[in-house]
Amino acid sequence: MALLIENLKKSFAAPDGGVVNVLDVARFELADGEQVALLGGSGTGKTTLLHAIAGIVAADSGRVSLDHSGNAVNLTQLSEAARDVFRGQNIGYIFQTHHLLPGFSAMENVLLGMSFTGRRADREWAKHLLVEVGLADRLDYKPEKLSVGQQQRVAVARALANRPRLVLADEPTGALDPSTAQQVLNLIRKLCTEIKASLILVTHDMTIASQLDRVVRLDELNEKSRQETGVKRQE
Ligand SMILES: Nc1ncnc2c1ncn2[C@@H]1O[C@H](COP(=O)(O)OP(=O)(O)O)[C@@H](O)[C@H]1O
Ligand SMILES: [Mg+2]
Repeated sequence: MALLIENLKKSFAAPDGGVVNVLDVARFELADGEQVALLGGSGTGKTTLLHAIAGIVAADSGRVSLDHSGNAVNLTQLSEAARDVFRGQNIGYIFQTHHLLPGFSAMENVLLGMSFTGRRADREWAKHLLVEVGLADRLDYKPEKLSVGQQQRVAVARALANRPRLVLADEPTGALDPSTAQQVLNLIRKLCTEIKASLILVTHDMTIASQLDRVVRLDELNEKSRQETGVKRQE
């Protein structure tokens, strides 16, 4: 699924009553099926940008346009409920730490990922995903009985459960050792390619970032819009 962001702004109210301007992105484009790394220091707004793309938070202004087979949907114009439905059907989200439901097996966690769309749970697909991420012999294990790397593999399988058209991964390898991180990255890329999903993967690890199709720096995206506004002010 292709993505086009234009003039996206997001600020938060600061505890002292002021305003923190976090995002001011003039333009960001992602082609259908493209796999991009989003790089940026801590606190630069990477998570906020992913939240705006997923429709978890509403932007203050601008366009977040997601295009699938010629139908463009501008998320900033949808209600929260409509954004939730759109996300459930089109977007897969992977967090830095797994966010799996304790007390439910790997298989159940993936099946629960399917339950939000109203479609029938597809056990075959859930099993295929868990086999693909190397957990064929761990289907009935609960998260607390899995290693951190295995937990993150389940989270990858769960994010892909609804065959999303766009996968957003927020520092998915940040809590993993280098070799496990590499394996998890490989799995994310392989599965996104298999289901033809686009991917935005947030990281501050250049070894990880440089393996994707393109590296985008969030500070440059924000800086570019500052420069463009500056030019306008001088006119
Ligand atoms: N709900 C919120 N209320 C106020 N400030 C927030 C909120 N969420 C994030 N921020 C601020 O926005 C900035 C960017 O946060 P975040 O997107 O989490 O950065 P990153 O993921 O790049 O580390 C930070 O300075 C943070 O304090
Ligand atoms: Mg973050």
